Amino acid sequence: MAMSILAPDAKISVLFDEHQLAARVTGLAQEIVARMGTMPLLIPVLKGSFIFAADLLRALHVAGAVPDMDFISLSSYGKGSVSRGEVTILRDTEAEIAGRDVLIVDDILESGRTLAFAKDLMTARRAKSVMTCVLLNKPGKLAVQVQADFIGFECPDKFVIGYGMDVAHAYRQLPFVGAVEG
Ligand code: IMP
Ligand code: MG
Repeated sequence: MAMSILAPDAKISVLFDEHQLAARVTGLAQEIVARMGTMPLLIPVLKGSFIFAADLLRALHVAGAVPDMDFISLSSYGKGSVSRGEVTILRDTEAEIAGRDVLIVDDILESGRTLAFAKDLMTARRAKSVMTCVLLNKPGKLAVQVQADFIGFECPDKFVIGYGMDVAHAYRQLPFVGAVEG
């Protein structure tokens, strides 16, 4: 499927509503504090994860953490809806990574290339530990060996939008995660 604005007759169905998202983000924050302690350095992968990461940051506060946050923007070269596999840095982090407990935050784990690239990068920068958190885990598409340490939801094999995720830069504003049907 080519990445394009949706056809006028395309339907969006709700996969995970606002309440489900909020409840799961609260649970994730508790799991993260239990395994990583109270001072993780969150590194959201822009742009798709920004709303998830903002909610997770506040849930971490409620869970007793004092997290730090920086951002990285990554792109898979030549990406339509199928990645060709080369990941490039569009905007790099600014924070000192060495010695930190890093939590990479992404919206979706699909081929795994984005997450594997970010993980290797933070390991090479001598993070004390590197863990990964994704809102959605799409099954059956892994091209590299990588697993997320924290997963919000298992996701059906559909193109999803909303809660920060886009199709051709549209629909990020939806307060729920929706699937494009047809
Ligand atoms: P991968 O794991 O490197 O293949 O890429 C995952 C990235 O592709 C995610 O961070 C998203 O930015 C994007 N992506 C994959 N599937 C979808 C989708 O269904 N909707 C929106 N973006 C997606
Ligand atoms: Mg992404």
